[in-house]
Amino acid sequence: MAKKIPVEQEVEIAALSEEGLGAATLNERPLWVRNALPGERVQARILKRRGGQRFADGQPLADLNPNRVASACAYFPRCAGCSLHHLAYSEQLQLKQAHLARELQRVDVAADGWREPTGLTRLGYRRKARLGVRVVGEQVLVGFRESFSNRVARLDACMTLTPKLSALLQPLKELIANLSQPRTIAQIEMAEGDSECAILVRHLDVLTDSDLEQWQQLAAVFDVQVILQPAGYDSLQPLPGQGSVRPLSYGIAEHGLSLQFYAHQFTQVNTVMNRELIRAATGYLGDVRDRLVADLFCGIGNFSLPVARQGAHVVGLEASAEAIAMAQVNARRNGLTERCNFAVADLYQAGASNDAISVGGQAARSGRYPEALIIDPPRSGAGINLEGWVGNSSLRQIVYVSCNPRSFADDALRLKHAGFRLREVGIYDMFPQTAHVETIGHFVRDQ
Ligand SMILES: C[S@@+](CC[C@H](N)C(=O)[O-])C[C@H]1O[C@@H](n2cnc3c(N)ncnc32)[C@H](O)[C@@H]1O
Repeated sequence: MAKKIPVEQEVEIAALSEEGLGAATLNERPLWVRNALPGERVQARILKRRGGQRFADGQPLADLNPNRVASACAYFPRCAGCSLHHLAYSEQLQLKQAHLARELQRVDVAADGWREPTGLTRLGYRRKARLGVRVVGEQVLVGFRESFSNRVARLDACMTLTPKLSALLQPLKELIANLSQPRTIAQIEMAEGDSECAILVRHLDVLTDSDLEQWQQLAAVFDVQVILQPAGYDSLQPLPGQGSVRPLSYGIAEHGLSLQFYAHQFTQVNTVMNRELIRAATGYLGDVRDRLVADLFCGIGNFSLPVARQGAHVVGLEASAEAIAMAQVNARRNGLTERCNFAVADLYQAGASNDAISVGGQAARSGRYPEALIIDPPRSGAGINLEGWVGNSSLRQIVYVSCNPRSFADDALRLKHAGFRLREVGIYDMFPQTAHVETIGHFVRDQ
């Protein structure tokens, strides 16, 4: 008969996982401990068992790791929004760089050089969030998930959200508790632009007049745009009497740009680090005057427009028709329509994506293929289609921005096979205090 394992155990932490969990072994099986660092002896309380693995909360007892710091957040480690508040920031950067290095080693791709890890923010950086809502008895919870569970964390504030968004948590909880049917609110999304915040209220049932009045008051008191979402994103509507749903905007001062976006559209969550990322990408591309650059997975034009501002002709491709429409608006608002050619394309469809790049290139500069690509795909990476995009000999360089070291490494190997050298690589810390790794790599073809 299998030996029953007590819920409380004293264990020693051997390593820190890529997810920011302390790794220990218990009865020859892995135990993952939150709030635990290598070398420490911790009291582990098992919270979850799944597939032969166990997940535990940790209370450090002895041999504290020299890189342990007091968490700035009272909700750590229970709230799963972050996993590294207990680790010194310089070590967080090292952890992320080591993660990326291991992935590149796995596929045997060596970079000529590494950028110093870039991390210019610590707290209060997060301009977008999707939060769960739960009614527990008399109380309403609005927050991220709890770690190792599907419960919503009890938060009154959040240190990684911008102060303006964090300040909305408590009023939101109070407002939802006062609604005619609090349980009708399923989720809240928040977004902050340079001059306005918006919240998307996902509701499962019709809101009464008195409910709507309460939302109107919150909008007025906190100077926030409240957008109702009765179903999918195509159902978004303003509060009665509030005109239409307004886009937010962010500036990229260095390039004299202002970009609009709707609260539900993809934008990089950390404005400061986004500017750094754009600076790195444009720096790698160098002098692009009158050159043809394709921006794949271009979203609302976050990289396309700075590159167009620097004098390039840009083909921007992206699956979301709504994002492409916004990229076109952004090109117009910034006087860059002549230099930009945005089109909807499913880049995970081989033939379609190859055609889209060539056709886009022809439209922008008669009959030419791009000399440079910017690739910023979802977590799954560019995948096998990448090989089709990089065969043309006109293509000299690729700037690859990634939110997943594993798919980045797989794509780096594909590029190596296609004759590209990884000239430089580095991490950009978009999500401090979390284990999220954002990477930028510059690939060049020598002959
Ligand atoms: C990481 S975001 C990058 C957006 C943009 N580069 C930026 O910095 O804001 C990835 C983008 O890929 C788009 N996308 C997802 N699947 C796609 C597909 N099959 N084909 C083309 N674009 C896709 C998403 O809509 C999203 O805008």
